[in-house]
Formats: sequence, C-alpha cells, structure tokens
Amino acid sequence: MFKTRITEIFGIEYPIIQGAMMWLSRAELVSAVSNAGGLGIIASSTFPTVKELRQEIKKTKSMTDKPFAVNITLLPTVRPVNYGEYISAAIEEGVDIIETAGRSPEPYMKQLKDARIKIMHKCARVRDVKSAERLGVDAVTIVGFEAAGAPGMDDVASSVLLPRAVDTVKIPVIAGGGISDARGFVAALALGAEGVVMGTRFMACKECPAHPKIKEHMIQATEKDTVLIQRSINNPERVLSTDFAQSVLEMEKKGATLEELVPLISGLRGKQALDEGDISKGIIVCGQTVGLIHDIPSAREIIEGIISEAKLIVQRLYSTSV
Ligand SMILES: Cc1cc2nc3c(=O)[nH]c(=O)nc-3n(C[C@H](O)[C@H](O)[C@H](O)COP(=O)(O)O)c2cc1C
Repeated sequence: MFKTRITEIFGIEYPIIQGAMMWLSRAELVSAVSNAGGLGIIASSTFPTVKELRQEIKKTKSMTDKPFAVNITLLPTVRPVNYGEYISAAIEEGVDIIETAGRSPEPYMKQLKDARIKIMHKCARVRDVKSAERLGVDAVTIVGFEAAGAPGMDDVASSVLLPRAVDTVKIPVIAGGGISDARGFVAALALGAEGVVMGTRFMACKECPAHPKIKEHMIQATEKDTVLIQRSINNPERVLSTDFAQSVLEMEKKGATLEELVPLISGLRGKQALDEGDISKGIIVCGQTVGLIHDIPSAREIIEGIISEAKLIVQRLYSTSV
C-alpha cells in the first residue's frame, strides 16, 4: 500500500519526504526520517562552505544506510554562492538524489545528468512544473499557498495547484504545503500526488534541532498565525506571525528597499531565533499547517502514524462507498 513511482525512483518505503529546512534539516533529522522509511533532505543553504556540507553528508551517512537527498535552493543570496560546487561536493560524497528549488535547475542539469543523479525540482507554479519536466527532472514538487518558505507569488492553494500540476505532466508529482497528518497525505494522493513533502510537521519533531521553545510556540500557534513577508521584493516567504515578522511587514508597507530589509530578513537572524528559542530575534519560517500540529513526536512516530492512520482512512472510505 502507498507504493508509487516516488517510492520506486528514490528507493524508499513510504512516499513521505521531509522538506529541506535551512539551519534545521541536518544529519540528526535527515537520518531519522530516512531510517523511518521516508526521505530526509539536507538543506545545503545551512552550510557557508562546501567543506561543511561534505562533513554533514558524511555524518548523515554514518547515521543511516538509507537514501537521503541534498537540497540546493537557487535563490538570490547576500553572499554569492557557487551552486555548482555544492552540487559537485554532494555527488562526490555519494549522494544520488538532489532537490533543486527557487529557480530553474537548467544551468545544472548537465552536471546532474552526467552524474546520473535522480533530480526532483520544487516549484510553486504550473508553468515551472512543465519546464522542469521538459528539462528532464525525475519528479516535481508543487507547493501551494499554505506552505512554509517560498509559496510563490500567485496565492493558489494546494487543493487547486496540485491537480493542475498532475494534469500537466507525466512525471510523478509530489505535493507540498499544508500537509501534516494522514488526512492530508490521503487527500494529496487522491488529488494525484505520488508523494508528499512536509516541512512544518518535521520542524516540530524530536530530532529537529530547533530550540524546544520554538516547538512549544508552534504547538500554541493556530492556522491563522503565519504571514507572508517579502512580497514587496518578489520573494514571498511564509513565516510565523511574530512581532518581528510584523515589523518587517510594516517596513515593506512603508516602501523599504531590499538593502533596508536585508539586516532583518537575513538567515542569520533566523538562526539566532531558532537556536536561542527567542521569537523576537528573527524570522521563523513556518506553514499554515502549524494549526494542525499539537505534539512533538519523533520522526518515526510521525511517519508510522501517518501510514497506519492513512490505511484506516482508505478502508473507511472504501467501506462507506459500497
Ligand atoms: C523552517 C523551514 C525552513 C525552510 N527552508 C527551506 C530551504 O532552505 N529551501 C527550500 O527549498 N525549502 C525550505 N523550506 C520549505 C520546505 O522544504 C517545504 O517545501 C515546505 O515546508 C512544505 O510546506 P509545509 O511547511 O506546509 O509542509 C523550509 C521550511 C521550513 C518550515
């Protein structure tokens, strides 16, 4: 049950993928997800140098013999990043699944294909799904408006975006944005997805290195407690609606320039908040599905819980329909 082209391509037991999370999806979380039968993804943007990424891959390999991936987020950064070098490092360290996100993976496709890497590309628009298929990626992830991180500029919810993507391409589609339990998992499969990616759910799990106070804050938050910042700079980001995030929004309303915003939205401020458990220190990326999260289980409990409850949901649906 729940075997799809995604479980087949990536060699995993369940079609459940842990969303790449800057600062957070490191060896402990990634290996926990992969050991539980899902696919963990290291966020390469966490590492200021290629050497540190290599060390994290080595550490992850020492903690799991199951497949895991490396995410390369191709978004503009304050410090120029040589993404090709990060990809080479991942390949040389033996990673054979790479997720690209943020921008078209086109400049890196030859490098990835030559190394026979399995490629998934994450995007937020149907037209990008189509281009990714044309470029030859193995799978595509579509994230809706609910998603943590970068849900795109179009404000279309997963319930519409996902079937649109599925109808548009032949390659398998992974659903992201708003999924955190068995109901979301089954609904995504019903809409045509062959896998799901969950960021916010795995952020509030035992192996996630965010400070416990951040996880407690997430448990208190409702579905109304996130907000989209950075729309004024054409790079919307869904984050927890804290006083800090509201002050960024205020600056945006007043027409702040990118240079004025950067000191507040820089990843390092977010890291400080996550490490110290102090939501007044920086931006905390988080999705609307936080409203459905009421506990802090282990990655294995999340995955096994979703699979066992999903089976019951499917049985119930089947028995009530005949
Ligand atoms: C704390 C946090 C950090 C994230 N950082 C990244 C990132 O660096 N690169 C990326 O492609 N996606 C990033 N994401 C997005 C997730 O990989 C995933 O697409 C998203 O969380 C799915 O939506 P959901 O949160 O509703 O599950 C992040 C998400 C969270 C919660």
